[in-house]
Amino acid sequence: MRTEELKEAVKQRYGAIAREGGGCCVPAACCQGPAQTSCSETELRWAPTGTLLGLGCGNPLGVANVGPGETVLDLGSGAGLDCLLAAQRVGPRGRVIGVDMTPEMVERARENARRAGLANVEFRFGEIEDLPLEDNSVDVLISNCVINLSPDKRRVFQQAYRVLKPGGRLVVADIVLTGALPEPLRDSLEAYTGCVAGAMGRDDYLALIEAAGFESVEVTCETPYWGPARSITVRAHKPWPSGESVTTEDSPAGRETGPARS
Ligand SMILES: C[S@@+](CC[C@H](N)C(=O)[O-])C[C@H]1O[C@@H](n2cnc3c(N)ncnc32)[C@H](O)[C@@H]1O
Repeated sequence: MRTEELKEAVKQRYGAIAREGGGCCVPAACCQGPAQTSCSETELRWAPTGTLLGLGCGNPLGVANVGPGETVLDLGSGAGLDCLLAAQRVGPRGRVIGVDMTPEMVERARENARRAGLANVEFRFGEIEDLPLEDNSVDVLISNCVINLSPDKRRVFQQAYRVLKPGGRLVVADIVLTGALPEPLRDSLEAYTGCVAGAMGRDDYLALIEAAGFESVEVTCETPYWGPARSITVRAHKPWPSGESVTTEDSPAGRETGPARS
């Protein structure tokens, strides 16, 4: 299948979901352990109803340790749930940007942000293979069940690396494969837009993140999704130019704060 055909099918599917509601990704695949839970009950009660479409496959925010004043980017932000939750965490000095290529999703996310009264979040129309952001401008990049839908995942991770600041964190939840899919599914457009047929092998996926330049690539959560498909949450960081870093105890969960000083 050609790239443009795949992208058009993805836009059609998620455009319809944005208009009509309903999801494609099984909520049970989300990581359930306390350390992986991105949303407290309070946060979920607060979230505007239109954001809960059940399209994620993990909880990147639960791993990303987003703190006040940070700039967060969400690849494939959908109706905006992760962005709105991140906006609360970064506070008034921080900033959250969601990027999505489906116009109806961007409109829905903007409406949800307006209803939530959040001024520190914006949604940009664009493709994750060609991010509408400057180099070295983001502290934390998250994504939830999106990169499997891209026909050019190598380019997505290269773009993620480009826009992250040195020391910035990447936390993505996504679908990967640990075996071959049954023949009829491999060429199925429905299975592609349903986050299964576009998924790559688990090890190849992790290798692609490393090839883009990321370091400390680590799977923090892994759960069965469907057949040989699994949901994984991966954390990695963009190295400092020197290749060294320091960690402070009082930054959120000891996240890296700058190049090591001698
Ligand atoms: C399965 S939904 C996940 C939405 C959201 N992350 C969530 O957890 O609810 C996938 C989203 O990614 C968007 N998407 C897929 N491929 C994309 C691409 N190449 N560039 C930008 N957005 C994309 C779709 O429009 C859709 O909104």
